[in-house]
Amino acid sequence: MKLLVCGGAGFIGSNFARQRVERGDQVVVLDKLTYAGRRENLEGVDCELVVAGIEDAEAVRGALAGVDAVVNFAAETHVDRSIAQPDAFVQTHAVGTWVLLEAVREASVRYVQVSTDEVYGSIEEGTFTESSPLAPSSPYSATKAGADLLVSSYFHTYGTEALICRGSNNYGPFQYPEKLIPLMVLNALHGDALPVYGDGMQVRNWIYVEDFAAGIGHALEHGAPGEVYNVGGPDECPNMEVVGRILALTGRDESLIEHVTDRPGHDRRYSLSSEKVRALGWEPRVRFEEGLARTVDWYRENTAWWEPIRSGDYRAYYERHYGRALGG
Ligand code: NAD
Ligand code: TYD
Repeated sequence: MKLLVCGGAGFIGSNFARQRVERGDQVVVLDKLTYAGRRENLEGVDCELVVAGIEDAEAVRGALAGVDAVVNFAAETHVDRSIAQPDAFVQTHAVGTWVLLEAVREASVRYVQVSTDEVYGSIEEGTFTESSPLAPSSPYSATKAGADLLVSSYFHTYGTEALICRGSNNYGPFQYPEKLIPLMVLNALHGDALPVYGDGMQVRNWIYVEDFAAGIGHALEHGAPGEVYNVGGPDECPNMEVVGRILALTGRDESLIEHVTDRPGHDRRYSLSSEKVRALGWEPRVRFEEGLARTVDWYRENTAWWEPIRSGDYRAYYERHYGRALGG
């Protein structure tokens, strides 16, 4: 199969591209290479890279030539950045998704929109299914929900062969260190403070990135157009427990933990039922304990991947966001 993977130079997209090339697919990646998209993520992956935004109709049309399906990972993905500066989130998720859908409609190919459990909002007890109402709470999740609705409208209105996969919190190799797990791992390895928002008792449903990538591939091949598939991980865990495990894996102690001002509108708990995609034959393989150990090892061994990030623009972002210098 020939696939166009939009946003394939980011964390999950590059893991997906690697997996698909290993399975024998031909892959074209279209990526704008924002701060989160890096050529290094695709090192050793035999694919073509087109550097362009999904909102660029001409580039999208060119990249679509001869492909059998499109998988769209392209997005702005950090909730804290969406709170500080929502513009790029609206542009990429609303306009970008619309441009892609128009091109897909013209080319009549299958389309998978990669989405998130955050579109359902926070849940104190129980678990979200695909029919739970959308109740997003951040500019990130609200614009992702908008994109999902647009995708569904193309199925209903034009018969576009479009599906949606909603993942839970991913972790693993190549994740940009603004997200909880890689940030805490790198800070712990450096002996820097671990900034925990509020009481740290927010719960996330963790999925190892290779499992999510496989779930998306499974929905692409076996899912039905017009359907939504939740793809959640096997383990839920409060942030304080995640941080405790990282301290243990890096040989540090709790003195590094620093409770900082909570995120505005912080969702308390995400929980996702994946029965529907499991019924198609997918299941997650990696439990949190094993995946986290693998992830810590990967960051420990791949200093050349993260050193340029920690010494570049990211330092300024970190200082602005946490009000303290990295390593200070
Ligand atoms: P990421 O931030 O690591 O990567 C996003 C990629 O999209 C980058 O390569 C970036 O350059 C590219 N991009 C951004 N705007 C673009 C545009 N306008 N045109 C083309 N490329 C653009 O993100 P990620 O964690 O890999 O997330 C990928 C997808 O999975 C997103 O749609 C996200 O909403 C979804 N998702 C992420 C998680 C998670 O825990 N990370 C969980 C569920 C769903
Ligand atoms: P994050 O990785 O940003 O993912 P999301 O907000 O999309 O779930 O954050 C995961 C959890 O970790 C969330 O409850 C916020 C919290 N968090 C911290 O406590 N400190 C941090 O420095 C970061 C980045 C996140």
